[in-house]
Amino acid sequence: MSKNYKRHLITAALPYANGPVHIGHLAGVYVPADIYVRYLRLKGEDAVFICGSDEHGVPITIKARHEKVSPKDIVDKYHTIIKKSFEDFGISFSIYSRTTSPMHYQTASDFFKTLYERGEFNESTTSQYYDEEVGQFLADRYITGTCPRCGNDSAYGDQCEQCGTSLNATDLINPRSALSGSKPVMKETLHWFLPLDKHEKDLRTWILEENKDWKPNVYGQCKSWLDSGLQPRAVSRDLDWGIPVPVKGAKGKVLYVWFDAPIGYISATRELLPEDWEKYWKSEETKLIHFIGKDNIVFHCIIFPVMLKVHGEYILPDNVPANEFLNLEGDKISTSRNWAVWLHEYLEEFKDKQDVLRYVLCATMPETKDNDFTWKDFQARNNNELVAILGNFVNRTLVLTHKYFDGRIPERGVLNEYDKQTLEDIGKLKQAVEDNLENFRFRDALKAGMDLARLGNKYLADTEPWKLIKTDQERVKTVLHISLQITANLTVMLEPFLPFTTAKLAGYLNLGKLGWHDAGNTALLKSGGILKEPKLLFEKIEDDIIEKQLQKLHKTRENKPVSEPVVTPPKSDISYSDFLKMDIRIATVLEALRVPKTDKLMQLRINTGMDERTVISGITGYFKPEDLVGKQVCLLANLEPRVIKGISSHGMILLAEDADGRLILVTPTERVTNGSEVK
Ligand code: 2FM
Ligand code: ZN
Repeated sequence: MSKNYKRHLITAALPYANGPVHIGHLAGVYVPADIYVRYLRLKGEDAVFICGSDEHGVPITIKARHEKVSPKDIVDKYHTIIKKSFEDFGISFSIYSRTTSPMHYQTASDFFKTLYERGEFNESTTSQYYDEEVGQFLADRYITGTCPRCGNDSAYGDQCEQCGTSLNATDLINPRSALSGSKPVMKETLHWFLPLDKHEKDLRTWILEENKDWKPNVYGQCKSWLDSGLQPRAVSRDLDWGIPVPVKGAKGKVLYVWFDAPIGYISATRELLPEDWEKYWKSEETKLIHFIGKDNIVFHCIIFPVMLKVHGEYILPDNVPANEFLNLEGDKISTSRNWAVWLHEYLEEFKDKQDVLRYVLCATMPETKDNDFTWKDFQARNNNELVAILGNFVNRTLVLTHKYFDGRIPERGVLNEYDKQTLEDIGKLKQAVEDNLENFRFRDALKAGMDLARLGNKYLADTEPWKLIKTDQERVKTVLHISLQITANLTVMLEPFLPFTTAKLAGYLNLGKLGWHDAGNTALLKSGGILKEPKLLFEKIEDDIIEKQLQKLHKTRENKPVSEPVVTPPKSDISYSDFLKMDIRIATVLEALRVPKTDKLMQLRINTGMDERTVISGITGYFKPEDLVGKQVCLLANLEPRVIKGISSHGMILLAEDADGRLILVTPTERVTNGSEVK
């Protein structure tokens, strides 16, 4: 049911201040959020747009450690870089704050205290890994070990990046501290838990019944969390970087970053509107929308709403239009592998071409599934769409008006049916942009906006004013008058998507500030008005420029930065007799099948020379089953059998992981007898 809202509160996920922002961030969160907000503002709505840097959490401490500086140095540096990138790309936040601000410390602390005093937390002592050498409890990311699922021996305590399984640090086989490389011990520690399970029933009703209109990717993920049953979540951590837990007996403990970060939306609103912020957070007349990436869904749809609800008074989000991920040239964007297009670097090489990137990222936005950014597609969309459709139409219209009428907007004469139809179509396209934007379908909205330029091109191609000028000057006046009205409409309808270009264009047309209600109006420009001398809105991007970008990316691949120590800390020495315990044999793959309902697992039938056996390996996605059959592999043959997805696995295939995270089989360079020992 659509409500009558008086105001809008739009939040965009707070990016971690441990690195600059890249195209994946822009496409996933900030471009759609900015388009939406610009559209609301054009409609004259009261829309507050909140963002800031997320400056706590373990990865920031890891980076600081690696760079031998303080976490504050790290966040200060990246907060400045990120803020500037957003400004450069015209992301029109009402405020870009940060979670190390005093206002945020106060707000997050008070929030915790309120919940604590109301008895909304369970307090309980848990056993956690502790590094005795360093004297510190270990966050999950600071522990590595062998994944119980796939055998990857560099799995993190929270996730195995090889098979994608989420883990608890205690699941790891042979855990090691990433701080010292030593074997951590278990030690008791006190924490506060938000009992999500208690709120499961309400969440089911709120999401699954009342918010059926959420995007299918968001709804689906929530449903799957709810169906698997919610567990209490710790909201504190043993760490020396973060907001201290504001209760007695909590020395050395800070708020979990995912507890404080979303409160950052509230703190930033308070900072922006010290008097009025409550109107935005505590009134049913406010429409709250969270723009996020898919990895943030559970936090914004389940955990934060529970926090808001139990605090009382706060409204819950009306929608959470999360996007999926953008890949780059077929590979997952990765900060640590430097596989990314960084916003600040883009602008060094494509000066003043913010809108080209905004356009391409909107046109390829990963709205319902992951999508790929390629430099070739970037070039094609610039050349074939921005230059050939939008730029071409606008340029022809303005140049012809200058040429035939000295830049003066001509009168329109009697309209024929085609003219009338063309003018009517402007209104229809406006409606299409609007309907799509209201429903967070940004790609379709942009397409409808560009259809207006297509309409204009078709109109010019059909009426051919450059031919008519010799025979019927009056008719040319009408044609250019109509084309100019289309151009004026473009400045409004494309403003949310291409703010820099439409501002330029409005300047050429001498148009004042227009609003969304002006779109569809076919008399935006008055006859007799003077136009400014236009310049080209877009220019063709040549192959060599694209090649340069591709080379730069591929160079990154070759010069992979030295791994950060946390990726794979050196393992402690083992004795020769330990090494001899491993029975590694050459074996041949006889059969390979994907394990149903899993993304990564492959079931292999293997001839080891000693027997035929089944081995499960997390390699789907890297190999096709048919390419494996007949291959010789190295097999750790005496790994104790494990049951994985109900299948008993006997041994582990050895794989190398290259700089890009790809898995490569370790195979003998010549064919050898199955069962040969590897020593
Ligand atoms: O995933 C991330 O980048 C988080 N820093 C997002 C936080 S959103 C909000 F809760 F602050
Ligand atoms: Zn794994």
